[in-house]
Amino acid sequence: MCGIFGYVNFLVDRTRGEIIDNLIEGLQRLEYRGYDSAGLALDGDKAGESIIVKTTGKVKVLKQKIVDQQVDRNTVFENHVGIAHTRWATHGQPMLENCHPHRSDPNSEFVVVHNGIITNYRPLKTLLQSKGMKFESETDTECIAKLFKHVYDTNAAAGVDLDLCQLTKQVLYELEGSYGILVKSTHYPGEVCATRKGSPLLVGVKTEKKLKVDFVDVEFPEQNSEPANNQDLNLLQKGNNLRTAQSRAFLADDGVPMPVEFFLSSDPASVIQHTKKVLFLEDNDFAHIYDGELHIHRSKRSEGDTTTRQIQTLEMELNEIMKGPYKHFMQKEIFEQPDSTFNTMRGRIDFENNKINLGGLRSWLPTIRRCRRIIMIACGTSYHSCLATRSIFEELTEIPVSVELASDFLDRKSPVFRDDTCVFVSQSGETADSLLALQYCLERGALTVGIVNSVGSSISRTTHCGVHINAGPEIGVASTKAYTSQFIALVMFALSLSNDSISRIDRHKEIIQGLQKIPEQIKKVLNLEDKIKDLCDKALNSQKSLLLLGRGYQHATALEGALKIKEISYMHSEGVLAGELKHGVLALVDDKLPIIAFATKDSLFPKTMSAIEQVTARDGRPIVICNEGDEIIASDKVMATLEVPETVDCLQGLLNVIPLQLMSYWLAVNRGIDVDFPRNLAKSVTVE
Ligand code: F6R
Repeated sequence: MCGIFGYVNFLVDRTRGEIIDNLIEGLQRLEYRGYDSAGLALDGDKAGESIIVKTTGKVKVLKQKIVDQQVDRNTVFENHVGIAHTRWATHGQPMLENCHPHRSDPNSEFVVVHNGIITNYRPLKTLLQSKGMKFESETDTECIAKLFKHVYDTNAAAGVDLDLCQLTKQVLYELEGSYGILVKSTHYPGEVCATRKGSPLLVGVKTEKKLKVDFVDVEFPEQNSEPANNQDLNLLQKGNNLRTAQSRAFLADDGVPMPVEFFLSSDPASVIQHTKKVLFLEDNDFAHIYDGELHIHRSKRSEGDTTTRQIQTLEMELNEIMKGPYKHFMQKEIFEQPDSTFNTMRGRIDFENNKINLGGLRSWLPTIRRCRRIIMIACGTSYHSCLATRSIFEELTEIPVSVELASDFLDRKSPVFRDDTCVFVSQSGETADSLLALQYCLERGALTVGIVNSVGSSISRTTHCGVHINAGPEIGVASTKAYTSQFIALVMFALSLSNDSISRIDRHKEIIQGLQKIPEQIKKVLNLEDKIKDLCDKALNSQKSLLLLGRGYQHATALEGALKIKEISYMHSEGVLAGELKHGVLALVDDKLPIIAFATKDSLFPKTMSAIEQVTARDGRPIVICNEGDEIIASDKVMATLEVPETVDCLQGLLNVIPLQLMSYWLAVNRGIDVDFPRNLAKSVTVE
């Protein structure tokens, strides 16, 4: 979690005020990644001076603090590095001392922002303290800033003159864990190093001139130049082993630097208003920016490393990441679902001929059809989309499918074989648990498939093949449109795997025709908003707890509905498999506990009804989600019914989940909760 943002200008005059505005705007777009505190670091007026402003709270508090501290906005810089951070606390509480940026010393010789966790920070801290360094915070990040200074000082004392790139390489050798890091230094004015391992980081490039090349060469360390980790930090020896940066600069024209601005960020959505040209860094890459040039280096050489990084053109538009007329991103994203679900299918389904074409999977389908089993691996809402579609996968493919929570899958060290297909479902494509599970499966030779929303994300780049769900940027911390699009992408995947089966032609046709109607049907369900709002006001706002019952296809809907309600409204809610009610949960039922039951028509409908009767027999008055026109139960026995259109059994969850998304939204709004920033959460969970 945490968002990091950097802005560097070369030969482009910028006032400090403009630089601050760029950093603040970038942070605001990253705020969904964490909002416990925020901070930034800038150059002072004199050489060797730095300005650091940081605060607990959201970016708007930081903005105000900059005004209150009367930071001068008028100084003009033609070359300047600014770095900024918005935090989701891991090590150290959200208090001022723990806010980023962190500095190496009171003169701020090295200033660092960091996203991730340094797992060996304790021994590093002890070591650095033994060298006389005084720590100001409880964070792991402060070790990085102090390590930079220590390595720099040790080399300088021995007369070894390191450039920022060499210095960064040395520091990286000592760090374990996951990180996205930006470092600036008064010793290297106008330069920045950006590096990642396990946390996303990209470089946006903006220039008035046309980019001459669309890739950047990668500089590898020389063979044997990587010293082993050494607690005594035998830095001088390491320094001598390192090679000077020689990689190709791509922006200087015949040695003449041209005006250029660079944006460094955890997420492309924060650079899109400046440039669409971006380069995604890979794990162990680090970017060194100086003199208007961008150089990419590797801190270590791994098998199969590519030698260039492409500069890609983002397809996202600015309006996709703006709230428009909506009060919250979550609300906007709920109401976008008729479009986002359509976009997931666009160009991939031929509705006239009932055919599916998933370009990113086509050549892999024969291999997947022969696999021993499919393992779907994900976290949170993405995990629920796997649960929601497992049954249709098994029905259509006749391949055994298991669904795994990434963290538990790793904890169990679950056996994985070369003839397994492992499907990773993730909105962000950066979730640490899922990424680690992906690495685990790759090491065991399994075929890996990514079902991902964020183009260019780690999961989409690391899997062998996959499908982008094309839901558009999802910014609200509670996942809504990604769920319905993942659901559809997985159904399309299952259909593609079985499209050679004659016996399933009718079932295919039924599902494909069902998919075609989904966007319109979602529109109809969204019309329930007023009724749901009313229900929240009359019966739910003040409740402490809520039970959701569903079975078969609707078990996943119950789990997803319960997750939405907890994370946004902080009301305790539990999704229960309706068949399990009688095995214990029934003890909770009385005339007070609010219950929501999914009773849309499918083969398990009679069994769901029996669960509802078990509830009403104990004076429970459930809210029932049923199909339009169904009078399933006497009206005096239910608190309300919410009628949704009928679709094919395996797609019904796409419609049934929408009332729960709306309910969680309105429960949260009515409780005065900042829906896009629920407490303790962040959008992209890049820590284990
Ligand atoms: C809930 C939610 C989370 C995510 C989970 C996985 O609304 O958003 O449960 O689904 O953290 O994230 P991704 O899909 O990015 O891997």
